[in-house]
Amino acid sequence: MKTLFSEAQILVKVEELGKIISNDYRDKEILLLGVLKGSFLFFADLARSINGNIQVQFIQAESYGSSAQSSGHVKLNFNKNIVIQGKHIIIVEDIIDTGLTLHKIIETIQAESPLSLSVCTLLIKKNKINSIDFKLYHGFEIEDYFVVGYGLDFNEQYRCLRDIKILEN
Ligand code: IMP
Ligand code: MG
Repeated sequence: MKTLFSEAQILVKVEELGKIISNDYRDKEILLLGVLKGSFLFFADLARSINGNIQVQFIQAESYGSSAQSSGHVKLNFNKNIVIQGKHIIIVEDIIDTGLTLHKIIETIQAESPLSLSVCTLLIKKNKINSIDFKLYHGFEIEDYFVVGYGLDFNEQYRCLRDIKILEN
């Protein structure tokens, strides 16, 4: 498989995102809300690159099943004991493709009255940025490839690759 971003390139980008977020949220307490499972490695690196007062929580979303195409149905597993109200929430995603998953998550989180809400995604597929109507931090904008590694899977494979690679079929 062809490498799209090396481990070193990814870590530089994550550090950059961490710096921007640290600056934007100076003196604020942040609740980082990771979207499992795809964001788990990005989440761990991002959390450590933000300077400040951070809490962590997770939400699980599933939409692709065993295919490389979005199924259009998003299943969310959100623990209602997680307190969102009155907190500065940053949702941490691996990748935005159709945006369906994120919209469902945002709807769910907004309903819990956060003090503020933004999203940090490592990857976003091209031409999707225009349709974004929330505060977004993003790492890399990519062509319409299906990518794996650094947390991203195809049918639960390749998540633990250090680099991000283009899945070839
Ligand atoms: P969306 O709902 O179409 O935006 O898809 C978002 C979710 O699908 C992401 O959180 C990923 O977990 C998964 N996904 C989308 N594109 C890819 C890809 O290229 N590789 C691996 N997973 C992907
Ligand atoms: Mg996912």
